Amino acid sequence: MNPIDSQAEALLNRMTLAEKIGQMRQISGFAPDHVETVRQGRAGSFLNVLGADPETLQRVARQETRLGIPLIFGRDVIHGFKTVLPIPLGQAASFNPDLVREAAQMAAREAASSGIHWTFAPMVDVARDPRWGRIAEGYGEDPFLASRMGAATVEGFQQAPAGGYRRRTPAVPGIAACPKHYVGYGAAESGRDYNTTLIPERTLRSVYLPPFQACVKAGALTVMSAFNELNDIPATGHQFTLRQILKREWRFRGFVVSDWGSVVEMIQHGYCADAREAARTALRAGVDMEMVSTAFADHLEALVTEGQVPMAWIEEAVRRILRVKLLLGLFNPERRSTPNPSVQGSPEHLQMAYRAAVESCVLLKNEGVLPLPPSLRSVAVVGPLADSPTDQLGCWAPDGDPRLTQTVLQALQECFGEAYVRYAPGVRSCRDPDSSQIPAAVDAVRNAEVAILCVGEDAGLSGEAHCRAFLNLPGAQEQLVAEVASTGRPVILVIMAGRPLVLGPILPIARAVLWAWHPGTMGGAAIAALLTGRESPSGCLPVSFPRAVGQIPIYYNHKNTGRPAPAGIREAPTGTPIDPKDFTARHLDVDVTPEFPFGFGLSYTQFRYGPTRLDRTRATALDTIRATASVTNVGRQKGATVAQLYIRDPVASATRPVRELKGFQKIWLEPGQSCEVSFEIGPGELAAYDAEMRWRVEPGRFLLWIASDSTCAGLSPAELDVRDM
Ligand code: BGC
Repeated sequence: MNPIDSQAEALLNRMTLAEKIGQMRQISGFAPDHVETVRQGRAGSFLNVLGADPETLQRVARQETRLGIPLIFGRDVIHGFKTVLPIPLGQAASFNPDLVREAAQMAAREAASSGIHWTFAPMVDVARDPRWGRIAEGYGEDPFLASRMGAATVEGFQQAPAGGYRRRTPAVPGIAACPKHYVGYGAAESGRDYNTTLIPERTLRSVYLPPFQACVKAGALTVMSAFNELNDIPATGHQFTLRQILKREWRFRGFVVSDWGSVVEMIQHGYCADAREAARTALRAGVDMEMVSTAFADHLEALVTEGQVPMAWIEEAVRRILRVKLLLGLFNPERRSTPNPSVQGSPEHLQMAYRAAVESCVLLKNEGVLPLPPSLRSVAVVGPLADSPTDQLGCWAPDGDPRLTQTVLQALQECFGEAYVRYAPGVRSCRDPDSSQIPAAVDAVRNAEVAILCVGEDAGLSGEAHCRAFLNLPGAQEQLVAEVASTGRPVILVIMAGRPLVLGPILPIARAVLWAWHPGTMGGAAIAALLTGRESPSGCLPVSFPRAVGQIPIYYNHKNTGRPAPAGIREAPTGTPIDPKDFTARHLDVDVTPEFPFGFGLSYTQFRYGPTRLDRTRATALDTIRATASVTNVGRQKGATVAQLYIRDPVASATRPVRELKGFQKIWLEPGQSCEVSFEIGPGELAAYDAEMRWRVEPGRFLLWIASDSTCAGLSPAELDVRDM
């Protein structure tokens, strides 16, 4: 037994039942009577306590309880702490896991300096429905991208090197990560938060589980169970996903915390009669610590005494919790340095937030107006998000310090000189229907050479319980864009939002569109640098943008159907099809494609991708082959492209998507420069769950593309023939 396990065991042997159950309770917020609860050993963790209170509680736990077991303090450090990074969906758009890892390291440093040991992040719920408000908190629609980003974030929070620790480490120097919400939460029907999910096992294992598994492999110390029910069983009471898959199949050795009240919500779900049954059900399924609700604290003791809950279940949970506390060094106060908030908002951290914001922005359209020439002498800055320090931080940034925020207005004034920038918000806030200030904005634009319109969603339009049925610009913003554009001045849209929006009529009237998500503290500086060409846009979409809400769910890795809509029809048909050859899988009133596809993003230069070549065209199911393509910067500026490897298995015993992302690399090239980009493809990339749910590479033909987005437009695939050995 390793030292951590034997220490946990030794402690466990000395604990009373009440103390064991105490470890399994997490309390939110501080109240004076919590001190006594801690003193009696009846709490193992707190969330949402900051300042002097955690120190008081920890001192009592260490010095005044029978066994001196320290508390673990959790907090939602989702995308930064005082210094706020782009929302996770924006970070995913960087397609740069190294950057994302570094960003999480920064967030962990700031959080740890306020005494936090544990963050409830990353959220790795694959989300294919932009109506769902929490799409902002995760990494988008693709399991491969979400796995890479989730693992990098776990490594960053826990301060592990890329690829995790080589050997098992007795200590985790960072803060504990908590991939969430296990599992299926992002598949909520109609994008309504907390709603029912129905996910067949193959889809669960192919789409929703891989990012969690990647986080577990990266060493995540905890996992959070979800609010939703999954195939008729609440995720917090789900033995198959928690006990069977997470704990048995993946050998997860950390602990599972329930989401806020999700244990007792099993009563509302119609799965448990009362809190007592909910406590037993959650524990049996594999929940080790209960967040906020008190079913464990209120009922476990009686359940054990009456023989309804075996002591072994309790001990397993407590063993896991103690192990995490030991790994984090909480028993060793010297290893946990005293809080030192001076790192918060430091120049290095602001620089990190700036880099992350630069790489997360996606250039969606540019009719030659960007980058802006520095010689401009009259720039109109319009829109409710041009100077909104808090909205720019996005959802789930409870500790973000808006005083550190650099807004787009401030940054553009710095670039061009205050005298040359005319500011008129046009509408007061994103959701405001009042259009009385639009004429003033139109006047400002009429007298300017160019209009930069910062529009989109305020921070409160995404995040938990913030779902939308309409995905257009809210309030009077569409009117603002239309009236400003009617001046004939070139309009550049800078859109901040927590999700993809339906751009509809405003897209054709904009000369350029820069998608900034909610870019965080340094968003303004990053956007100004991108607009003026000091930085080059390099982000790509981690999620498809629908043309209409009725297309949702729309995602690149869909199935082909028996009647795929013919490729290349860009226009919506005008009437009801009468010819059976037009009876295809499409809507009558909208093009079958998304407005912008997954993986798409422009740069200020252009890239040419050569054909995808394989080092051999025949292989066995166990071989690893290499796919290569040449990429050339054929434009006039330095820039980055994200080379993306897609595969397709066109015939399989259980059908496969039309494309699946299996690799990506961000490459920077000088004008005229070429490089060869290559990817290794082995069983890990080609295998899937077959008709019998076996994970294997099925013999047959595979198609492979190296391309700059998921459409792989204009590129013919390389073919690989996989034969039985
Ligand atoms: C959310 C979690 C979050 C928790 C603690 C819940 O409402 O679903 O994602 O970590 O609250 O704040």
